[in-house]
Amino acid sequence: MAAVNLDALLAEARTARGRAYAPYSRFYAGAAVATDAGVFAGANVENASYGLSICAERVAAASAVASGARRIEAVAIAGSGPLPTPPCGGCRQFLYEFNPGMTVLSEGLNGERKQRRLSELLVDGFGPSDLPGSA
Ligand code: THU
Repeated sequence: MAAVNLDALLAEARTARGRAYAPYSRFYAGAAVATDAGVFAGANVENASYGLSICAERVAAASAVASGARRIEAVAIAGSGPLPTPPCGGCRQFLYEFNPGMTVLSEGLNGERKQRRLSELLVDGFGPSDLPGSA
């Protein structure tokens, strides 16, 4: 697979942030994933039943997988805090399924960027090979 253009991926995440539905927290987040089936974006979607809210990263990943993607090479995250937004623990686990080595790039409104491997953010995560009978 060709190297991921992380600047372009971040631009997609920023655009997706503009579509966030976050009337409760007013924290607007966008994410974009580069996959074996192309680039997919998502934004956080909140709910009056607060606990049902879903993060931008999971919306992007689910959209990608539902469109046929099975491997995520990189995820870019554009939050609305001053500092780069770290993906929450739930999203780390959700993303881990689709490549523990993926690049995770976050950008804050102050322009600062933070880049990590998912496996640095989720050490010894639970994955498909931890289930009995799996390859
Ligand atoms: N949120 C995301 O969408 N991604 C993150 O990485 C951090 C948090 C959302 C969840 C909730 O809608 C709002 O931001 C505040 O937590």
